[in-house]
Amino acid sequence: MSVAYEIPRIHVLNAPPPAVDADVLAVPLAADDTAPAVAAFDAAVGRALSEALARGEFTPKPCETFWAPIVATGWKARRVLFIGLGPRAEMSAERVRRVASTAVTTVRAQRFGRLAWIDADGTGQDDGGRADLLCEGFALANFDGAVHKSRPEPRFFVTDVTLVTAAPVHASAQSGAIIGDAINGARVLVNEPGNHLTPAIFADKAAKFVGVDGISVEVLDVPQIEALNMGMLLGVGRGSAEPPRLIVARYEPADAARDVTLGLVGKGITFDTGGISIKPADGMERMKDDMAGGATVLAALRALAQLRAPIRAIAVVASAENMPGSRALKPGDVLRGASGLTVEVNNTDAEGRLILGDALWHARQLGATHLVDVATLTGACIVALGKITTGLFGSHQPWVDAIRLAAARGGEKVWQMPLFEEYKDALKSDIADMINSPGRAAGAVTAAMFLREFAGSGPWAHMDIAGPAWHEDSKPWLARGATGTMIRTLVELGRAPIPR
Ligand code: BES
Ligand code: MN
Ligand code: ZN
Repeated sequence: MSVAYEIPRIHVLNAPPPAVDADVLAVPLAADDTAPAVAAFDAAVGRALSEALARGEFTPKPCETFWAPIVATGWKARRVLFIGLGPRAEMSAERVRRVASTAVTTVRAQRFGRLAWIDADGTGQDDGGRADLLCEGFALANFDGAVHKSRPEPRFFVTDVTLVTAAPVHASAQSGAIIGDAINGARVLVNEPGNHLTPAIFADKAAKFVGVDGISVEVLDVPQIEALNMGMLLGVGRGSAEPPRLIVARYEPADAARDVTLGLVGKGITFDTGGISIKPADGMERMKDDMAGGATVLAALRALAQLRAPIRAIAVVASAENMPGSRALKPGDVLRGASGLTVEVNNTDAEGRLILGDALWHARQLGATHLVDVATLTGACIVALGKITTGLFGSHQPWVDAIRLAAARGGEKVWQMPLFEEYKDALKSDIADMINSPGRAAGAVTAAMFLREFAGSGPWAHMDIAGPAWHEDSKPWLARGATGTMIRTLVELGRAPIPR
C-alpha cells in the first residue's frame, strides 16, 4: 500500500510578487475584480490575462483555471495559474476551500511541487481570515487514493505552499493543515476495502491514527464487550468470522471546562452485506464505507487534540462486520443491549442503529454530557436530502442549533429533520421493547428515534451521513471516494463554547 497523501509545508511570506520563488504563482480572481487589481499580473504575463478575459476564454467561474507563462523580466517564478472565484458576493467557506483544492489538483497534474498563493491585488491583505480554509483545501487535494496498485504510477504531491501576505496568518494556516490532515486520514480509512479493514484492523489503525499527544485509546475485544453486556453490538458481529471491537478514545486536557464532556459516537461497520436480510449485489461494494461515521469522530477528536482545544471529549466507535454467517442474527431474533432495552431484529440490515445503541449508552456511562453520533445510517436519508446534505436530528434544540452553527462556520451542509412523537409508534414490537426496522415511511426519522432511546438524558444529536460520506464523480476539488464529511463541523463544534 502506497501513501495516499502529503500535507504540504506551509510558509508565510510578505514580499512583492516578483520576489516570490515558486514553481507556480496561484492567483485567485473574482468575477468582479477590477482591472487595476490584476494589472501587475496581467503585465507580467504579457496581457494574456486581459486577452483571455476579453475573448471569454477565462470567465472566471468558480474553480475555472487559466495558465499563463510569465514573460516579464525580474520575476523569480515562471508561470501563473489564475483561478476563478466567481462573484465576491457568493464567496463562502466551501468556495474558498474548493478553489484552493482546485489549484493544488491543477498544479500536481503538471507535476509542479512548489506553489505560492497570492491574492489578485498582490497584497494578500484580505487573506487573513481564510488561511485555514485555504490550507485545508490544499491538503485535501494533495491526495491520491490509488494505494493498492501493484505498479503505482509515480505520484506528484505539492510539497510546499507559500502564502504571500502581510497578515499574521501562520496559526490559522496551521489549524487548516491539521484539519486537512485529519480529513485525509479518515478518507484513507473509509476508502479501504472490507478485506483490508476488518473490525480488528480498523481498531488497530484507528488507535494509531487517533493516538496523538493528549489522547488515550483503548480497544475492547469480545470478552470485554461481553462484560459490558453489549448484546446488540455482539449480535451484529455474530454473523462474521471477524469479531467486533469497541474503540474508546479520550481527550482530557488540563484546561478543559469542568462540567462538559463532548461524546462523539461513530458507526464502524467495516462492511455491510445486510446480513441475512441481504442487500442486492448491485452497488454493494460501496458498503465498505459503512464505518465512515467512526472514522469521522476519530478524525475530529484527533484534530481537537492537535489544536489543543480546551474541551474534554471522548470518542466511542462500535465496529463490526455485518455478514450472513451460520451464527448470524436471524430476522425475528431478540437482543438485549447494554442499556437493558430489548430489540426484536425484524431486519438484520438495520444493523447500524443496533451497534450505535450500545455505543451511545456506553458514551453516556463514561460521562459524556453532550452526545453526537455520526453514521451512514439510512438509504432513506439519501431519498429525503440527496447526496450532499447531512440529516441532523435531536430533541435538545440548543444543542442542535450549536451543531447547525458549527456546520455553517465549517461550510458543510446539514438540515434538521423532525422527531415528532407520532413517528415512534412505528417502533412498537409485540414481544420486545422495540423493533429495529419500522419500514419505509420516514425511515431516517424512525432510525433516529430508535437511537434516541439509548442516548439517556441530556443533549444528544444524530447525523445521518449516508449521502455525503461518499462522492461518486471525481471533481477538481475532491477525488472520487470518501469525503470526510462532518469532520470540520465536529471540530468547529468542539472549538466553540458548548451551550447548556
Ligand atoms: N449502511 C446502510 C445505509 C446506507 C444505504 C448507507 C445506502 C449508504 C447508502 C444501513 O445499514 C442500512 O442498510 N439501512 C437500511 C435500513 C432499513 C433496513 C430500515 C436501509 O437504509 O435500507
Ligand atoms: Mn445495513
Ligand atoms: Zn449499515
